Amino acid sequence: MGPLEIRAGIFWVGVNDRTTDLFEGLWPLPYGVSYNAYLVVGEKVALIDSVKSCYAEELLGNIAQVLDPARIDYLVVNHMEPDHSGALPLLGRVAADAEILAAPSALPMLTRFYGLTEQVRAVRDGETLDLGGKTLSFHHIPFVHWPETMATYERTERVLFSGDAFGGFRTLDGALFADEVDFGLYEGEALRYFSNIVGMQSQAVLRAIDKLQTLPLEVIAPAHGLIWRKDPRRIVELYRRWAQNEGEPGVALIFGSMYGETRRMAEAVAQGVREAGLPVSALDASRVHVSFLIQEAWRYQGLILGGPTYDTGIFPPVEQLLRLLERKRLRNRVVGLFGSYGWHGGAKKKLEEKVRELGWELVESLEFAGAPTPEDLRRGRALGRAVAERVAQGVRHA
Ligand code: FEO
Repeated sequence: MGPLEIRAGIFWVGVNDRTTDLFEGLWPLPYGVSYNAYLVVGEKVALIDSVKSCYAEELLGNIAQVLDPARIDYLVVNHMEPDHSGALPLLGRVAADAEILAAPSALPMLTRFYGLTEQVRAVRDGETLDLGGKTLSFHHIPFVHWPETMATYERTERVLFSGDAFGGFRTLDGALFADEVDFGLYEGEALRYFSNIVGMQSQAVLRAIDKLQTLPLEVIAPAHGLIWRKDPRRIVELYRRWAQNEGEPGVALIFGSMYGETRRMAEAVAQGVREAGLPVSALDASRVHVSFLIQEAWRYQGLILGGPTYDTGIFPPVEQLLRLLERKRLRNRVVGLFGSYGWHGGAKKKLEEKVRELGWELVESLEFAGAPTPEDLRRGRALGRAVAERVAQGVRHA
């Protein structure tokens, strides 16, 4: 996709990445991801963010369709993670006179990642830069997602270049703006991006939202995914809700099963949730990548986990999910648990201990031996209903 003028004198010059399999070497990208870079053209020229290094030439080609890249006066680094800073070495050679502007804590990173020490300047929180016809201001928003992160605001067009904040996975398919696409196709990938990448820093996201909402906003232009020009508050409110760990009324039911017996229990539990009138997303933890499990655990208020006892403990894929949810600091979940065993239990007790450690509300748990009996399955349905009813109550009282 070539460059596009998103507001007078402001151009998207980013790229779509459809070939990286794993973002950060961890998270699958079945729908790709975009790296959004923006050219702000006044009498002077600033480039806001860049792209992953392997796309540096494509970025340069996009810039060249707007103006000679050697004319760039400022390279603004909102965020040092290499998906946004990887083209800096090439840009520095092409725009040899350009000054690199970044938050103070980015400066040692510029040296460590790229050996860049010359023509680098730290910008203060709230500092402004007159480009002649365009004015930028810089707003430090630490830990969204690294400590050096900042957002840049263009005052005449009221555009916020928000870095990782308000972004999402999925490429921009011929259209840049959220109002040009079916957002239903993008919302899940925005939540997966939030929960996988910045969810751990939810408190920092909330602080950033409070800080940035004092700016008069007409456009939010994040570093990944769709640009918001109509109703930019929509993505801000979604991010706020996700950062507050406010799940939707529904249940993520995530289970493992070795020979199908625990899966049969999971089916009964799902039925119970539906009987109580809530949506349920039932996912086999052995087969669905943990990235999507985290997304669904973040989406819904209710979380039901189940699995057979393995090596006297929690089934490994379910245990891995719990470890990551703990690391990402997911809070405020209403939980049900079910465990099974062949000769000796253990999974249920260890799941209960973990849920207590995490401070989640445990509604009910059960354990069964071997294949579930009709009575076991009846208890499973009741467990699904009980968790769903508790979720519905909590939502009504919120
Ligand atoms: Fe999109 Fe934290 O980098």
